[in-house]
Amino acid sequence: MMKEQLEKIKELAESELEKCGAADALEALRVKYLGKKGELTAILKQMGGLSAEERPVVGQLANSVRQTIEEKLSARAAELKSELAAKKLKEETLDVTLPAKSRTVGKLHPLTVTLNEVKEIFLGMGFEVVEGPEVEYDYYNFEALNIPPDHPARDTQDTFYITDNVLLRTQTSSVQARVMEKKKPPIRVISPGRVYRSDAVDATHSPLFHQVEGLVVDKSITMADLNGTLELMMKRIYGEDCKIRLRPHHFPFTEPSAEVDMMCFNCHGEGCPMCKNEGWIEILGAGMVHPHVLEMCGIDPEVYSGFAFGIGLERITMGRYQISDMRLLYENDMRFLGQF
Ligand code: DAH
Repeated sequence: MMKEQLEKIKELAESELEKCGAADALEALRVKYLGKKGELTAILKQMGGLSAEERPVVGQLANSVRQTIEEKLSARAAELKSELAAKKLKEETLDVTLPAKSRTVGKLHPLTVTLNEVKEIFLGMGFEVVEGPEVEYDYYNFEALNIPPDHPARDTQDTFYITDNVLLRTQTSSVQARVMEKKKPPIRVISPGRVYRSDAVDATHSPLFHQVEGLVVDKSITMADLNGTLELMMKRIYGEDCKIRLRPHHFPFTEPSAEVDMMCFNCHGEGCPMCKNEGWIEILGAGMVHPHVLEMCGIDPEVYSGFAFGIGLERITMGRYQISDMRLLYENDMRFLGQF
């Protein structure tokens, strides 16, 4: 009777262990069969009621059943463990032949690239780079540049006023007087920065743009120095075959004044849509510093002379990269910026 029960337990345990597919289920089976309240233990507890002959026989059988179950348990545990490891290995395979993820590396904005180049060129000629405030006194933006209140030149540079005598500067020329008040000649500076004008946005206008101002004051500075300096800068930016020309113009703070054109890089002077059929493209304003401007800053115009110029940074950037719409420079569209 007990022998049959033992055989049955063994059989059942074996088939259940065979089917068991997880470690926690395996533990449950161990408790079920071998635990303190397990089936085998329950049988062994009844052995007291057996006869002296039967007891060793049943005892032996019970031991062998226990041993069989224990062996099966640990064999199954080992199997499950290696199955799990194999599964994990398969799931975690790395395909090293897949192409790598590329990393996006930032780039300098084309305006910054051009500005860095301009700085480099002028540093090489012994210039110093100085900065001036964007929120400026009317005095430096206009009056110190020979543009008194009510001067018509103010209308062409309509700006954003903060108070009656404080405004967003319309030109980096505002730095000229600031430099001349502090430094005595020889002066050789460039001053890059943002300027503001109350202009509507279109392909060639923006209420915020950038200029680079240049100022040289020393003894015996002539228009030839201005011409040579500008020509050198333009050749360095656009290549050795770049040509410039000076056209007479008027600025209140220079005398004589000139507008400077470069030969169209697209048609080399022939005339094309890029230069509106002119063959030349205007790039900057310049001239010999007006004696009265020098005087207002305490520099004797009988002893010293100087030249000044103001370059539009957008204009030369658009020229060298053939960008037809200024707005592209401000929109931060990565499809555009990624091309430089
Ligand atoms: N400030 C002028 C402008 O914004 C450009 C300019 C003209 C600057 C002549 C100069 C200069 O220094 O001498 O239109």
